[in-house]
Amino acid sequence: MTGMPAALEFEKVSKEYGSFASRQSVRALDGFDLRVETGEIFGFLGPNGAGKSTAIHIAMGFMRPTLGQGQMLGRPFGDAAARRRVGFLAENVALYHRRVDRLMCFYGALNRMGGARLGERAREVLRMVGLQDQAKRNAGKFSRGMVQRAGLAQALMNDPELLILDEPTSALDPLARVMVRELILSAREAGKTIFLSSHLLSEVELVCDRVAVLHRGKLVRMGRTSDLLQSTEQTAIVARGITSDAFGGAVSQNGLVTMTVPISNQRSVMQRVWELGGEIVSVNPVRRSLEQVFLEVTADAQPPQPDGGR
Ligand SMILES: Nc1ncnc2c1ncn2[C@@H]1O[C@H](COP(=O)(O)OP(=O)(O)O)[C@@H](O)[C@H]1O
Ligand SMILES: [Mg+2]
Repeated sequence: MTGMPAALEFEKVSKEYGSFASRQSVRALDGFDLRVETGEIFGFLGPNGAGKSTAIHIAMGFMRPTLGQGQMLGRPFGDAAARRRVGFLAENVALYHRRVDRLMCFYGALNRMGGARLGERAREVLRMVGLQDQAKRNAGKFSRGMVQRAGLAQALMNDPELLILDEPTSALDPLARVMVRELILSAREAGKTIFLSSHLLSEVELVCDRVAVLHRGKLVRMGRTSDLLQSTEQTAIVARGITSDAFGGAVSQNGLVTMTVPISNQRSVMQRVWELGGEIVSVNPVRRSLEQVFLEVTADAQPPQPDGGR
């Protein structure tokens, strides 16, 4: 509508791994369409093997789609100049065995940064991820969580317009997860776009403006996080002055009785409460958790394959 270019856009992207000859090909993406707007925090969800990393690697230009195309920051996938304006955190970070401050400078130089600003920015990003006291340590000796922090610092070096994070919190403890969440929120404050893949739904729920659910290479759900979490089918009715045993499945606590009922039954349940001499305290739609949404849309998922844990 606005005519603004998307931060990230996939157009009917399909990806098959393997050769036609071997008959072992895997369709990791199947006609995948997605548009991420500038300035939003976008959550990219899906079970292991859904195709999230494949989509991200195609956007970064690490490989070509079998079919389809797309743009990153208004340029075709793989465009080198556009890539310098992007920060990328890989799912499995691999770091050279070097001092981490020098590593940051190395990554900055790859993005054509230089001069005094380089060392200054290296210190800045290490502070942002809480590694300031480890700056002179060899990254080869880091724990998995520290490697992930260093990976995140690396992604921030060039002050990117678009931050693409593939499972950024998978190796982090709860405190570090909070740090990542704050980093993401302040990046949005600064006008950046964040594209975040995760299977940690509770994380995504807290920060993302919109989410898409990928399942077997297809987009199965997309919308504002709040809309996906809103259930239209169930209502929670809270009453007092009655006992819970008058209603099947009712829960009683501190003199209040809560009943979760289909919306079509809400009127009759309320009437029954009044007939029993009770009082209605509240009637609210039940919010689904993203976990529930996730289970609904992936209900036909196969058990994980031995190679599905990528
Ligand atoms: N390099 C590869 N060669 C062959 N198959 C792959 C390769 N990378 C991923 N796959 C397969 O593609 C599917 C999607 O994987 P991936 O994109 O890593 O999913 P996710 O990141 O959502 O867990 C899986 O079935 C996976 O085994
Ligand atoms: Mg992955």
